[in-house]
Amino acid sequence: MTGHFVTLEGGEGAGKSTQARKLGEWLREQGEEVVETREPGGTPGADAIRALILDPDTPLSALSEAYLFAAARADHVENVIAPAIGDGKWVVCDRFIDSSLTYQGAAGGLGVERVRAINADAIGDHMPDLTILLATDVDTGTRRAAQRDGEQDDRFSVRDAQFHEKVAQAFAELAETEPDRFAVIDASQPIDDVAERIRATVRERLL
Ligand code: TYD
Repeated sequence: MTGHFVTLEGGEGAGKSTQARKLGEWLREQGEEVVETREPGGTPGADAIRALILDPDTPLSALSEAYLFAAARADHVENVIAPAIGDGKWVVCDRFIDSSLTYQGAAGGLGVERVRAINADAIGDHMPDLTILLATDVDTGTRRAAQRDGEQDDRFSVRDAQFHEKVAQAFAELAETEPDRFAVIDASQPIDDVAERIRATVRERLL
């Protein structure tokens, strides 16, 4: 019995965590067992690495950043994602390898293929079955992210609009090159409409 691995990706303020939660709830209503998780993080070790990578006061090169994300991801895959999929569960993950390919690879300047290589051993054969790309324009995303209560600025949210434009462009290019894995959904629509489009995509592709 193998489960399903769904990731949600997109820039800041695209609504990934809200949509991940809604998708998880809906899958449970369908009688599925679901593990909801997020990156960076998802295990105690990966959460410790998260605190380090997101701290804007710790200078890190783009390359060390990429390795730290990959290290956190290796722990997460080994201890949470792979076992859940092996047990036939659904894994719904808020960000995964495509965030590294876009943030560190494209916008960070390392190049997508270099970052893919760094991540290859960390994820093994655990590429997502489906990746929902929540597409928003950078202005809307930044505004929404700024409105969230109690959120600290992190290393990435403080970067400029040009960085976030590169991230958005790179996500769009990845989606174009892997249309079987990606589904692009317009995240500027009302939350419930976006949630319905996500459910329709999951029904069509995986159920
Ligand atoms: P988080 O607070 O989880 O942001 P969001 O709500 O936007 O998902 O912080 C995660 C930040 O880390 C976000 O700016 C994206 C960045 N990131 C990378 O640069 N590379 C990665 O591989 C991952 C998983 C996240």
